[in-house]
Amino acid sequence: MLTREQIQELLQPLTDPESGKSLIELQLIRDIMVKEDRISLSLVCLDTDEKSRMELEQKVRDLLTEGGAGYIHIRLRDATDYERSILRGESTEDKPEPEQGGGLKGHAAGLEGHELINENSGVNFIAIASGKGGVGKSTVTVNLAVALARKGKKVGLIDADIYGFSIPDMMGIEKGPIVEEGTIIPVERFGVKVMSMGFFIRENSPVIWRGPMLGKMLRQFFSDVGWGELDYMLLDLPPGTGDVALDVHQMLPHSKEIIVTTPHATAAFVAARAGSMALQTDHEVLGVIENMAYYECSSCGKKDYIFGRGGGAKLAETLHTELLAQIPLGAPDNHISEPDFSPSVYKAETATAQLFAEIADKLIANNEQ
Ligand SMILES: Nc1ncnc2c1ncn2[C@@H]1O[C@H](COP(=O)(O)OP(=O)(O)O)[C@@H](O)[C@H]1O
Ligand SMILES: [Mg+2]
Repeated sequence: MLTREQIQELLQPLTDPESGKSLIELQLIRDIMVKEDRISLSLVCLDTDEKSRMELEQKVRDLLTEGGAGYIHIRLRDATDYERSILRGESTEDKPEPEQGGGLKGHAAGLEGHELINENSGVNFIAIASGKGGVGKSTVTVNLAVALARKGKKVGLIDADIYGFSIPDMMGIEKGPIVEEGTIIPVERFGVKVMSMGFFIRENSPVIWRGPMLGKMLRQFFSDVGWGELDYMLLDLPPGTGDVALDVHQMLPHSKEIIVTTPHATAAFVAARAGSMALQTDHEVLGVIENMAYYECSSCGKKDYIFGRGGGAKLAETLHTELLAQIPLGAPDNHISEPDFSPSVYKAETATAQLFAEIADKLIANNEQ
């Protein structure tokens, strides 16, 4: 098995034809990861023409294969304008400092004048977690973000659920973010600024690669994205209590959490684990949202608790927190022909949107007290 250092050694001879410097030293080959016999790395391309890019990729493959590598996964991405300006021509003093793990510190240094998001910038981080998938974590995240924006708050949303980047689809976002002078500009929808790993990762890329990339990408979302001024930053976390969820918790030591569950006792039980992980990593749990709580008959108004009853309240009790809301079953009544169609955002005047507005009020009150 090759080590990261051996891989760097093998790729050392590859140079940028213009400056003659090694691509490794220029940090154009980064994010090198080795897992058993699999190697993955990113190749940042200064060249835009397809032929030279393919040749470069082939050279990397050849060198690694000669060195004994097995499976090689190479991600190609274009150098940003900033990387280009700093690597081609300008004085070497401005060159990004080498950083462990192919970091973006140097990159971020080009963002003067842009607001950088970090734990101390006065933004309220709220992570939305769940014990398992399919309970409506993303639906809740999206509608809570929109509810806060409808109250006049400046809201960012990061889609960090590597098992399914669903936020862009759910909000009806069709375009990806654009890059302006090396800064990624989030896509704005219903007043919410959205960043999703799904904007950058091909849909068919295996989940096994996504976990290790999540940390890097999140850091990049905090350093390279022009969020502007924000009051709230919501994060759609991966479900469960695995390594990935734990990493995210550790990366955001000051974020608060909301736990989403369905009313079923088993769902509430697994959600309790997510809640205790939050507490063990010193995250304040703001409350529980019980989703798919009941079905309300549209003609007689009777509530049917088809998935059981009491899971949310029980979970809130276990975690010594509040049951923030019970959201009924019922998809938004949106139609694809509408100009701002979005499959999962409830219109402001609906009863469900009203429930999210009430949660938003609670969060704002909690924050401003
Ligand atoms: N309150 C609800 N009523 C009806 N359908 C819902 C509700 N909440 C979520 N859904 C649907 O259930 C599915 C799973 O929701 P999603 O938000 O993607 O869950 P998660 O992010 O936890 O995996 C989606 O198809 C979503 O549209
Ligand atoms: Mg989801």
